[in-house]
Formats: sequence, C-alpha cells, structure tokens
Amino acid sequence: MKILDGKKISNDIKDEIAAEVAQMKERGEKVPHLAAVLVGNDGASLTYVGSKVRSCKKIGFESTLIQLPEETTEETLLQKVQELNANPEIDGYIVQLPLPKHIDEQKVLMAVDPDKDVDGFHPVNFGKMALDMESFISATPFGIMELLKRYDVDTEGKNVVVIGRSHIVGRPISILMSQKGKAANSTVTLTHSRTKNIQELTQQADIIVSALGVPEFLKAEMVKEGAVIIDVGITRVADDSREKGYYITGDVDFDNVSKKASFITPVPGGVGPMTIAMLLKNTLLARERHRANKES
Ligand code: GUN
Repeated sequence: MKILDGKKISNDIKDEIAAEVAQMKERGEKVPHLAAVLVGNDGASLTYVGSKVRSCKKIGFESTLIQLPEETTEETLLQKVQELNANPEIDGYIVQLPLPKHIDEQKVLMAVDPDKDVDGFHPVNFGKMALDMESFISATPFGIMELLKRYDVDTEGKNVVVIGRSHIVGRPISILMSQKGKAANSTVTLTHSRTKNIQELTQQADIIVSALGVPEFLKAEMVKEGAVIIDVGITRVADDSREKGYYITGDVDFDNVSKKASFITPVPGGVGPMTIAMLLKNTLLARERHRANKES
C-alpha cells in the first residue's frame, strides 16, 4: 500500500508556483491576486478560507479577505461580486460555500465573471470543462487529477466508481476521469443516494473516489484487493476529549481499507491540501490569461 501524499505534492506545487511568482516579481510584473468572500461565521469555512489566504502569503500572491456578516443581504453580496468583477487588481476570487440560507447560491455563482472564477463553479467554466476546452477546473477534482498524475496511477480503461454526485466534486471528477488524457480514459460509474447495491459496484472498482461526507462509510468488505482509494470526505466529528472539541475524518475506514488498497489518500493530508494548491494554480493561470489578453 502506498500513501497518495497530498500534503507533500501540494507543497511541491506551491514551491513551483512560488518560483514562478518570484520570476514575475523579477520581471517587474504584477503578481497574482486572489480574493475570498466569506459570509457568516461557519467554523469549517473560516478554517478553509484562513488556510487559503495564508497559502497566498507564503507563495508571494496578493490576497484579500472580505468577511461579511451572516445577515448580509443577497443584494449586498451581489454588489460585492460586481465590485470584484470590475476591479482590475483582482485576478481571481472565490465566494466560500455554503452561503447563509437566505441567499440564492446559484444566483451569486452566476454573477461571478467566468474569467475570474478560479473555483470553476460558473456554468461557463463547468461547460467548458465538460467539453475539454480551456477553463478553470474546480480545485478539488483538479487536485485529484493532479495527485493521480504525479503518482503515475494507471487509470486507462479502469473501472472507476465515484460516490456522490455533488456539483463541486462527484459530477466533475466523473466527467474528467472519463475524458481522454492522463489520469483519465477510465470507465466511470457515478453513484449516489438512489443507487441500488452500491457494494456490488464498489467491489468491482479499480479506483474509488468517495465524496459523500459520511464518516467511515467505505468499509474493507466493499473494496477489492489492490484498489486505488481517493477519500474526499472531510467531516468534523464532535469529540470532547480533543482540544478543539472535534476530530476530522474521511469517508473511508482507513485502518482496514488501507490493508487492501494499492494506493490510498489519508484524511487529513490527502485531497484537502491539494484543493488549496490547485486554487492557487488556477489563480496563477488567471493572472497569465489576463496578461495575455491585455497584450493581444
Ligand atoms: N466549500 C467547500 N469547498 C469549497 C470550495 O472548493 N470552494 C468554495 N468557494 N467553497 C467551498
């Protein structure tokens, strides 16, 4: 069994990006600038956004964190989005999800300029991704693809079972892995809450991508010997004995499944850090595309 070490690979990617930023600075060019909008006080979102902003600083990007109160109206948020679209200093930005219930998430995501949509959530980017065109690919599926590529995991003609059909992970990764190319060319089955006999499908899978958010859902008896396991779940489980009052766990019963797996991502330290690295990668791409558009 080999660990797909997302922490290590994400650090490699961040080092590569930092080297490019250093060169940009030497040439006297503007460095990439990422902004993040956070509405409300959701603990997990605060942690994720904080981590994204800290990573920007480390690699030499400019960053702006826009924190808005829970009671922010949809109108105010849409206005903020328009300001970010119009601000030439900002290369890319994200609106952290989930948004408070009184705000229409889809309406907000639709308002983001697709050229600054480094989350890849706008329909224009999702559509281009699905058609194999240049786009911004959502950071989590992009990170999974990169991890598979860098570990040279053989995906060609393999049976992939994706668990969960979210717009952010399950749906896009099922599309990407079925496309032509490296870490792809797979035969993909996308499973979800209405799938019957999910165990029969996972038992046949060469590669399983679990993006369900149910702690330790995937058990050893559901997995065949030698399977590749990608665990996208990050769930906070309440535990008073821990300093933070919770611990983080994935969708996979790691101790038992890892004994059968050929490759497996840990939680934490697997897909999570890759997501941040690929968001930074998208922001670098955004900067390069904006510069190229200006020159042409
Ligand atoms: N919430 C959970 N994951 C993500 C993500 O990748 N981007 C944003 N904007 N919100 C999230």
